Amino acid sequence: MASIRYKPYILEDSTYKGGGKKIAMPNGIKVHKLSSNENPLGYSPKVKEALTGALDNLSLYPDNTDHRLREALVSDFDNQLTADHFITANSGSEIIDIISKAFLGEGDEVFVSQPCFLPYTAFTRWMGAKAVNVPMTSDYDYDLEGILKAITERTRLVFLASPNNPSGNYIPKEKLTAFMGQLPEHVVVVLDEVYRHFAEAGDYTSALPYVLEKKNIIAINSFSKTYGLAGLRVGYCYAPLHISNYIRKICKPFLLSSLALEGAIAALKDIDFVERTVQLVQGERAYVLNGLRALGIKFWPTQGNFVMIHPPIPDTELVASLEKRGIMVRPVGNFGAPGMVRISFGTRDANKAMLEALSRIIKEKPLIA
Ligand SMILES: Cc1ncc(COP(=O)(O)O)c(C=O)c1O
Repeated sequence: MASIRYKPYILEDSTYKGGGKKIAMPNGIKVHKLSSNENPLGYSPKVKEALTGALDNLSLYPDNTDHRLREALVSDFDNQLTADHFITANSGSEIIDIISKAFLGEGDEVFVSQPCFLPYTAFTRWMGAKAVNVPMTSDYDYDLEGILKAITERTRLVFLASPNNPSGNYIPKEKLTAFMGQLPEHVVVVLDEVYRHFAEAGDYTSALPYVLEKKNIIAINSFSKTYGLAGLRVGYCYAPLHISNYIRKICKPFLLSSLALEGAIAALKDIDFVERTVQLVQGERAYVLNGLRALGIKFWPTQGNFVMIHPPIPDTELVASLEKRGIMVRPVGNFGAPGMVRISFGTRDANKAMLEALSRIIKEKPLIA
């Protein structure tokens, strides 16, 4: 009897889990969740209104074309792109999945630079393709030269993130432009810019200039961070038409629910909420980094809504000790940064509590070298 033909590369894989475990504290001690890079302001009240309004229409199929959301994105990009440049999906993660399906097959190869967001490698493996790691340098910078040298005929995609999760580094415009200029024509860059609103470096760039130049690039975006809609699951990408129109061919009909569509459209329109979020993140970033500096804790410069630290005690011990004090942070050894811990920026209250807890833990524990 013939048996089921399992795909070996799926059989061997472990289920991708993502972060996000919940903790409960006794005696009403407040829990500060600084482990998933979420928005401390929550989400826009205008989104709530839009979602409530959309509830009346749940018996009807949503907008099959997602056209209104893509038109709202066109406005958000000041009409520099058209609706056809955008693809929407149920999260930035699903965008990564769709890109993988569109470009990867058995024997293909992609490039990642660890430490990086786990789905780049997981979703690549699900397609039977291989993720080749060109690690970041010791001070967490992309080795773009190294990637260019390692590219082969089988290379399909290069995943880059700016700002990168978990290390917080970004790719300055001059470097990205030089890299795009040297990229062989059969390779597509996937630039993950889900944290782009938080970047304030003068030489930061999104993928927009390269998309306008029709380079081989796809920009991943999400509604989970700036718009505070991690639970709604909405994301999008934009790319030059020769790429976006190709990817659209494998997008399922009615992919986004009417709640997701209406919520995302309302989120894009609430510019004031976006500004308040960016202001909060940038302000709290300065506050937390100053606090870490004062405690003598090693951290890496960050353009995201989080920072990666090298704790002076073992990472698991730090995470457990912070948890006991109601503070959730994320060890990022499995991202490819062994011993490091990522801390999201929260409200001032949360950040203050986190810094105080860190200070106490460090005083109590003997330091490692
Ligand atoms: C670098 C990066 N890309 C993409 C995503 C995907 O976000 P989501 O799937 O919530 O849209 C995340 C989420 O944490 C991320 O950190």
